[in-house]
Amino acid sequence: MPNAYISGTGFYVPPRVVTNDMLREEYGIDTTHEWIVERTGIEERRFAAEGVGTGELAEHAARQAIEAAGLEPKDIGMIVLATLSPDFAFPGSGVLLGQRLGLCEGDGATFVPALDVRNQCSGFLYSLGTAASLVQSGAMKHVLVVGSETHSAALDLTSRGRTVSCLFGDGAGAVIVSATDEDRGVRKWHLGADGRYAEALCQKVWDMRQRPFIPQDEQGRGIVDPSLMWANMEGRKVFKNAVQRMAESLMRVFSSENLTVNDVDLFVFHQANLRINQYLAKEVLGIPEDKLVNNIMRYGNTTAATIPILLAEAERSGRLKRGMKVATAAFGSGFTWGAAIIDW
Ligand code: ACO
Repeated sequence: MPNAYISGTGFYVPPRVVTNDMLREEYGIDTTHEWIVERTGIEERRFAAEGVGTGELAEHAARQAIEAAGLEPKDIGMIVLATLSPDFAFPGSGVLLGQRLGLCEGDGATFVPALDVRNQCSGFLYSLGTAASLVQSGAMKHVLVVGSETHSAALDLTSRGRTVSCLFGDGAGAVIVSATDEDRGVRKWHLGADGRYAEALCQKVWDMRQRPFIPQDEQGRGIVDPSLMWANMEGRKVFKNAVQRMAESLMRVFSSENLTVNDVDLFVFHQANLRINQYLAKEVLGIPEDKLVNNIMRYGNTTAATIPILLAEAERSGRLKRGMKVATAAFGSGFTWGAAIIDW
């Protein structure tokens, strides 16, 4: 059975920086830099320009990862794209990415399968587990895994939405999961879900149980109430469950690999809130600060993209090197969660 290792990483964030002060001054949101930094650690985030969507952000990150792996797009056997902000309700953005990478026409047309993963902040780890299994089974040699989000189009950027809208930003991260006979790669992963909390963090927009799924006015235009249009979050419930579930998930992968936190060189946690990660690292796991990477200060929460962006940045800065043992964990809407151990 081949091992499944990460042969290349890439990331892309749109150029427009939106600081906490800009949320107040340009969008008129009743908030302060201090409030946001104190509770979340976020100082700024990126917003994509009008007309730019998740497939486009994903393409930039994917091309970087493919090049870093020494491959060309036609070498990819499958696309797995995690997002909660697909360009359209359907089809998913994975097919758009395949088309953008030139896999649907000309000499490079391979028409590879494209799977969209809908597991929000845990989407990257769900995708990584899926890709690693496909590679280890021998079914695939190289799988492109991307987390990509365009949150800025779907945030209530008014004072009404301030609790949620100050948290999120746009961006994409990508990795190539490849087969190898070398003794390295994704060692273990664990995933979990608890649908009892589906409505504690959700953006409904419509309800497919209703007829029609979005109420209409006399002209046939859809009417969406703000309570359905924008994301709802029970913040404290999310915080508490995030710490507990990420710790449990990490402990499961540690014990099945006979590891302790001391064996790990780098911890790469989902970037939901700096305070969640600091609490988990310091109070629950006892991890020294220098083993933890965070970038939420600069990008906010990019949901499915946070972990692959962090991996790509850490690799480029030299913080993440060949031979290191990496532990990663995420928690998000669903609730869903997961953890993985990777020998880099
Ligand atoms: N600026 C200023 N005031 C604000 C803002 C804001 N951006 N947002 C909320 N407030 C106000 C509220 O209106 C409330 O005012 P009130 O007391 O007059 O009603 C007050 O601040 C406290 O609001 P809470 O929602 O209780 O704030 P809390 O201290 O719980 O912090 C936060 C909110 C940071 C979201 C916190 O609940 C949290 O960290 N939750 C974890 C969830 C999280 O980080 N989710 C990220 C996305 S999900 C994921 O990726 C897993």
